[in-house]
Amino acid sequence: MKQVYSILRVIGLVALAIVLAEISLENNDKNAFEVYPFLWLIIGMVLLIAIAIEISAGALHSVLYKSLTPEARAQFDLTENSKKEAKLEWWRKAYKNLLDKKPVENEGEIILDHDYDGIRELDNNLPPWWLYGFYATIIIAFAYMFNYHVFGGTSQKEEYLIEVAEAQEAVEKYKKNAKGLLTANTVELLTGESDIKAGNAIFTANCVACHKVDAGGGIGPNLVDSYWILGGGVKNVFNTITEGGRPGKGMVAWKTNLKPDEIAQVASYVLSLHGTTPADPKEPEGELYVDPDARVEEVEVDMKDSTSVEIKMGYDEK
Ligand code: HEC
Repeated sequence: MKQVYSILRVIGLVALAIVLAEISLENNDKNAFEVYPFLWLIIGMVLLIAIAIEISAGALHSVLYKSLTPEARAQFDLTENSKKEAKLEWWRKAYKNLLDKKPVENEGEIILDHDYDGIRELDNNLPPWWLYGFYATIIIAFAYMFNYHVFGGTSQKEEYLIEVAEAQEAVEKYKKNAKGLLTANTVELLTGESDIKAGNAIFTANCVACHKVDAGGGIGPNLVDSYWILGGGVKNVFNTITEGGRPGKGMVAWKTNLKPDEIAQVASYVLSLHGTTPADPKEPEGELYVDPDARVEEVEVDMKDSTSVEIKMGYDEK
């Protein structure tokens, strides 16, 4: 029995050390042991020290016990036993109080009158553990109701939505910084105002020296016409900006300076300028590029029956 207590004490101490480490080194949602692996070393030390203390305390106890005279030993055993007895008595009483049950001998006092074919009913008090547990649920229910339905605490659904939003943000952030996810094969033309604006800023900062502010062309070719040396469309343009132009022409690979999402933004900005009229446009260079994905969308609405909307899609013939 003593050994069981010793083992329980050691386990308890180690568990306490782990919990304390977790609480005191709260680091967002991350496990403290992941962030500081050396904590395992400290926990190991705690374990060793706890075992050492238990062993030496046990040894000290048995040495002292053996050094007692036989009478003193008997006296010691007696006090130990009465202590144990008192402890047990406390538990027995607590158990009885929690149940508040009439002893079988006194059941006559609480038996009810009705009698169903010899089956009769006892009117015992509700066990206090149950009764107070029930009161506790009532109090908790009010606390819950006021918190979530009167004072607007964050409900489970809101918590869920908040976590989903956070996760989505994390995914977006990851996508922005992860190389290899956004490539010339996967890039899509961006049309959002903020992306075009960001693209404009990148263009102004890096590209105007050779392509001019209005992209009409200077050292580099005109970027607003339909003629492309290295291919038009967002995928080709993305690829040109990422990898650069033909060797020796002056158009460097921008992948070392710009992130993939920034290249997608500036490529989309360049393409958004298509068809504008620069102040001093350079002559078209390269070949006429027709976007194979270009579509015309026709929406025909039947006025007589406005619930039927016909959408026709087809490839641009130009
Ligand atoms: C040092 C001058 C210079 C700078 C700066 C420069 N370019 Fe260029 N760019 C060129 C030249 C020269 C070419 C032609 C490359 C070739 O012929 O291979 C070119 C070609 C291109 C093309 C392909 C045009 C076609 O007809 O296929 C695109 C798109 C382009 N640049 C975009 C950009 C963007 C976006 C930036 C800024 C991030 C930029 N350039 C910065 C000189 C420059």
